[in-house]
Amino acid sequence: MKLLVTGGCGFIGSHFIRLILARRKSWRVLNLDCITYAGRGRNLADLKGNRLYRFLRVDIGSSRAAEIIRRERPDAIVNFAAESHVDRSVHDASVFLKTNTLGVQNLLDAARAAKVGRFLQVSTDEVYGSLPGHALAREDWPLHPSSAYSASKAAADLCCLAAHRTHGQDIVITRCTNNYGPYQFPEKLIPLMITNALHDLPLPVYGDGLQRRDWIHVEDHCRGVLAALERGRAGEIYNFGIGSEPTNLLIVRQILKILGKPKKLIHHVRDRPGHDRRYAVDIAKSRRELSWKPQADFVEGLAATTRWYRENSGWWLRLKDATFQKFYKKNYGQTWPQRCTRATKDMDEK
Ligand code: NAD
Ligand code: DAU
Repeated sequence: MKLLVTGGCGFIGSHFIRLILARRKSWRVLNLDCITYAGRGRNLADLKGNRLYRFLRVDIGSSRAAEIIRRERPDAIVNFAAESHVDRSVHDASVFLKTNTLGVQNLLDAARAAKVGRFLQVSTDEVYGSLPGHALAREDWPLHPSSAYSASKAAADLCCLAAHRTHGQDIVITRCTNNYGPYQFPEKLIPLMITNALHDLPLPVYGDGLQRRDWIHVEDHCRGVLAALERGRAGEIYNFGIGSEPTNLLIVRQILKILGKPKKLIHHVRDRPGHDRRYAVDIAKSRRELSWKPQADFVEGLAATTRWYRENSGWWLRLKDATFQKFYKKNYGQTWPQRCTRATKDMDEK
């Protein structure tokens, strides 16, 4: 099996590549990633010297990506590459459309020209929009994206389904809920709250903090993607989630408890524009057709993830660079204090 993975230097993609090389011993993996602010080659530093793994720095929307696909003729492509942060899409939508929609169409066209066996598009439950009452979105739930991020992902899903219907391409789409775990860029809720709390900085909770998300451990998501790649039916969509719906506020309080920090660090700030109140998916089809089910317990997973960030400040400190600080100021109207950068360096040296 020759597998082409895109976006493999990001949070979920790097876990997926590690999973593949551990569980499918004879597979070869080629990782295409253009290394945006969110991608890091060293997320996969442990694979250095592994003969089954290769990396090329390439934009999925480029003609070079298409050429590589035609030249390499992989058996399958799994596309993780995306602009993934909703708040950034509020400030500037264009790169979201460029990568998440046009980039995917470029990959689809190249995959067809190269007669790639299967194309798996990693999508998101955000395409369903905010869900009412106790409803669970099945895979045929109408698309109601609220942000430029989720609109660009929904558009890509439609392009994938169109490629299946028009050209008979073998497409599978997965839609997962919010992921957490090690190596998540510290702009997303859980790592942002942990890293701010470690510095006794305010934890910016949007609005009343009673929005609900279904948090899944990144390794459960990756096992789902592998199951869909191997056992999913062409032209089908598969949801992944764990079926729990804690509020953001509950999670933030839990993080403070784990770290032994006071609740007064919680600051309610201006709500995210277009903020979806509740996400929840029905995973019956994935259980039935893929024999997949989530394994990690959220409370244990959150505690382990919090410990990982506390013990790996060297990893996330480098990400809180000038670009991050600029985004932080723009999004929250607050400056990430320089003293924290210095303090964390001291922590590392000790
Ligand atoms: P991430 O932001 O951590 O990583 C994205 C990766 O894609 C980075 O390595 C980046 O360099 C790369 N990339 C971005 N634009 C690219 C381009 N034009 N060409 C090549 N590479 C490019 O994102 P993530 O959280 O790991 O999400 C991965 C995928 O999973 C995304 O498609 C996202 O929509 C989807 N997803 C994420 C979650 C979540 O909770 N994080 C949940 C469901 C689905
Ligand atoms: O549902 C899947 C999606 O989950 C993925 O498709 C996205 O790529 C991923 O980023 C994530 O989107 P969210 O917007 O749900 O994740 P985020 O971590 O940004 O926010 C989670 C919740 O926490 C959301 O209700 C907004 C809230 N929040 C977030 C941040 C960054 C805050 O209250 N304060 C914050 O500072």
